[in-house]
Amino acid sequence: MNKRTLPILIGNWKSTPDTLQNAIKIVKLLEKKVLSAHPKLPKKPYYLAVPEIFIPHIKEISSGFIGSQNIGGISLGQTTGATIPSQLLTGGADFTLVGHSEVRKRGESEEERMHKVALSLQSKFTTVLCIGESKRDKEGKYLSFLEEDLKESLTLAPKNLFDYLIIAYEPVWAIGQSVPATPQECFEVVISIRRSLVSLVGMDYAKKVNILYGGGVHKDDAKIFLDEGGVDGLLIGQASQDATSFFEVIKNCYSK
Ligand code: 13P
Repeated sequence: MNKRTLPILIGNWKSTPDTLQNAIKIVKLLEKKVLSAHPKLPKKPYYLAVPEIFIPHIKEISSGFIGSQNIGGISLGQTTGATIPSQLLTGGADFTLVGHSEVRKRGESEEERMHKVALSLQSKFTTVLCIGESKRDKEGKYLSFLEEDLKESLTLAPKNLFDYLIIAYEPVWAIGQSVPATPQECFEVVISIRRSLVSLVGMDYAKKVNILYGGGVHKDDAKIFLDEGGVDGLLIGQASQDATSFFEVIKNCYSK
């Protein structure tokens, strides 16, 4: 994947909706809105990370990129219930999230995350690595925390496959809130992530990586992040879980 000029707008459905029937309803309505949008939207205007088992069903009716929210397993073999990247990819997923704070909270270790990222990239699977601090401090220690987190998560990642890597900056304190970080707070972190990437792998590889913002994004502030937050796209939770609000986010982000 080359660095995009179009915004990468990823909806994260988390563990919603409750049934496949309801998921289909949401996507059908979203598609109707996307198709009749004025001005016209690009061919694949959005990404959706859906419950894994819905992926093939949603792909059939969606014009977007449909992906998974996590990687369950990191080795082929006797690991019940753990889906590995090549299985997700060949089962129909276009991308995956890795290291979301809600997955970390349930016990994902640094070691596991490092292997998930490496294995996923080795499968040439578009991988959205999520990083974010739980709280901020005046001294800016959160920036060193993020740099360290990035470094550890990418320890085994093959830099020649960084075309497939996306970093999502999701401050944990903004997730699920009605007010996101400010675009300026986001911009500072994006610059810092870019610097860390350059020092890790050099400019040629670092510049291939798209960076997104996520946490409390809604239709009225989405575009400001693209214009002033220095990001290539957004990772959207609650506002993506309803066809109308997700469509409003998409439409606003593509407006001039
Ligand atoms: P909200 O947009 O609901 O804050 O969620 C953000 C998120 O966790 C996306 O991955």
